[in-house]
Amino acid sequence: MTATEHTVPAAGLPAAAVLDLAAQRVEAETGLAFAGAKRRQFDAALGRMADALGLPGAAACASWLLAGPWDDAHSALCARFLTIGETYFFREPRALDLVCDYARAHLARGEARPLRIWSAGCCTGEEPYSIAMTLRRRVPRLLPADVTILATDLNEAFLDFARDGKYRRWSFRRSDPADLAAFFRPLDDGRFEIDPQLRAQVRFAWLNLATGAYPSAATGTLAMDVIFCRNVLMYFGPEQVRRAIARLRDCLVDGGWLVVNASEASTPLFAGFTPVYHEDAVFFRKDAPAPPAPLPAAVAPAVEAPAAPAFAPPAAPLAAAPRPHPASASAPTPVPLVAPVAAAPDPAMARVQALADAGRREEALQCLRRAVEAEASSAPLQQDAALFALEQGDRTLARHCLRRLLYLEPDSAIGHYLAALIEDAAGRRPRARSLLRDCGRLAADAELRGAVRQWLERLS
Ligand SMILES: C[S@@+](CC[C@H](N)C(=O)[O-])C[C@H]1O[C@@H](n2cnc3c(N)ncnc32)[C@H](O)[C@@H]1O
Repeated sequence: MTATEHTVPAAGLPAAAVLDLAAQRVEAETGLAFAGAKRRQFDAALGRMADALGLPGAAACASWLLAGPWDDAHSALCARFLTIGETYFFREPRALDLVCDYARAHLARGEARPLRIWSAGCCTGEEPYSIAMTLRRRVPRLLPADVTILATDLNEAFLDFARDGKYRRWSFRRSDPADLAAFFRPLDDGRFEIDPQLRAQVRFAWLNLATGAYPSAATGTLAMDVIFCRNVLMYFGPEQVRRAIARLRDCLVDGGWLVVNASEASTPLFAGFTPVYHEDAVFFRKDAPAPPAPLPAAVAPAVEAPAAPAFAPPAAPLAAAPRPHPASASAPTPVPLVAPVAAAPDPAMARVQALADAGRREEALQCLRRAVEAEASSAPLQQDAALFALEQGDRTLARHCLRRLLYLEPDSAIGHYLAALIEDAAGRRPRARSLLRDCGRLAADAELRGAVRQWLERLS
């Protein structure tokens, strides 16, 4: 298709209006949004797109984007000019640890079905190939036939590049040279070609995350164990982000994981997931469906059981009535956190929880802030408030409550544990380690001590 085959439906409108309409269409068709300050980027990108199409300028390109039915060429050009195709091998390696842990647990459970991983917005293939290489090297018992890796993108040119599997040295800027040597063959032109067996392990396919079919058997996007959708949703408009996340969630098995970039992880968008924070990534574990009968309002905020994780380590079985683990900064493996459960929850906390359950997060947090000040000398409330604030991704409020809690109860093991979580997530590891050591000393509960030990090992 060439641009000149199209009529210009917006002829007669001022250029700015045509650009506005084009931006709206692009967002509707691809999710890529350019509101506010990003709008100038859009206009500039359309200028470059116009050059590529041989059109006289941004307004003409906008008209081209508005003309006729939307097709793959429109999508591909948008992907090329409106997103940054920045990627490299072994990016944000903590997410690869998550896949390995998940794979080991999958094997330990003796699951007959293959492990299913999806790199959504895979760009030129570095991400899915990194997953394949990592599993080969670190979970050798998982045979290639026991894992399927789907890699999709909006940009067909990126997918062709990925299928070709030839990369310049720059793609390996964060790689272990041993991986380069083990999985790539140097070519005469200075590039490196991926091992054909590894290449065969990844299935590349075109899929538009804004309008495409998923979950769907047709696109092979059902029953995924882990979905990587990193550095993609940051380009989407809020409504498209919400829809994409809900649909990605539907693609996951219960206990499966959605991995996004830390900057994309506004937790209110991730309803039905439990967040796990890291410095460079946030993982969201899909919760099991809500039980059919609602829990009595009086106990729901305090004792709601977490989703059974798909890979709870055998050494750390869930306790009888555990609190949901809000954000393990230590590892993808969720460590159950057992907190004392109040027989009757504080009425203020019950109100906060009810607001959150109704999807009114901001009001819930405001109500929580008031309760935290009104009951400044109640250690149980400060603890529950810290936990709730963490669950909602408000670390500042959580830290405030924990300071209060540790002032009121300097020997609170849970207080030290939660404070360590925040410090670790903020990258302050020495402080996190010191809090954890204190927690280990103070904890009466053997399970909590075990969790602390595991976490300290991972932090060392
Ligand atoms: C910055 S790259 C991210 C690559 C990789 N996930 C990573 O983190 O290294 C963003 C990718 O998202 C793709 N993309 C943008 N909009 C998309 C959409 N609507 N559907 C699928 N992929 C999309 C782009 O084509 C691009 O390859």
